[in-house]
Amino acid sequence: MKFLVTAGPTHEHLDPVRFLANASSGKMGYAIAREARRRGHTVSLISGPTHLRPPRGIRLTKVISAMSMRQAIKKEIRRSHCLVMAAAVADYRPAKSSSAKIRKGKGPRSIALVPNPDILGEIGRSRWPGVLVGFSLETETGEARARDKLRQKRLDFIVQNAPATIGSDSITATILFSDGRREILKQVSKAVAARRIVRLAEDARKERQQTR
Ligand code: C5P
Repeated sequence: MKFLVTAGPTHEHLDPVRFLANASSGKMGYAIAREARRRGHTVSLISGPTHLRPPRGIRLTKVISAMSMRQAIKKEIRRSHCLVMAAAVADYRPAKSSSAKIRKGKGPRSIALVPNPDILGEIGRSRWPGVLVGFSLETETGEARARDKLRQKRLDFIVQNAPATIGSDSITATILFSDGRREILKQVSKAVAARRIVRLAEDARKERQQTR
């Protein structure tokens, strides 16, 4: 299969040296890319800024912002059979970004924001025929919200996890499927979680091919 995987945070720049970001490490997405490659798939990884080593045998595209990630995905989505959207895409970006460093005292005291497009939602609603996998991170018990995202973004399955996952090498998650099934991963390494996620994506594609 051809896997397209996204990972890491996005940086939304105010000027060349300042940006809004989040704490995503990129570890989960990189583990999925590595595992898909290990299983013989062709893998393209689109990564926001991380400190991780580029995995071997994988095409890596580095991006900064949500808008540049969206553009990179659009370029490759048609050639892919599965999109795993593990990136923590910023929901908003500054309304204005300056090409010169904003000088102390010259900048505004508050930052006007505009919403970024929901990349995964756009692809889900476009009825792209591939397997779509999303992630959901909620501070509160978020299963109902994750189910909403699963439905709204028209995903095959969504991996719901808690903030403790950020930066960690392990993950506790509930995987929710479009047919109502659920599966729990309890305190497993991200490598083990990646193994399960890649298998589930393979299964989803097989199922889709059989029902055609
Ligand atoms: O709605 P929420 O941001 O919680 O959904 C998370 C999922 O949607 C993740 O898979 C994330 O990669 C994706 N996403 C996206 N574009 C955004 C925000 C989130 O593709 N602007």
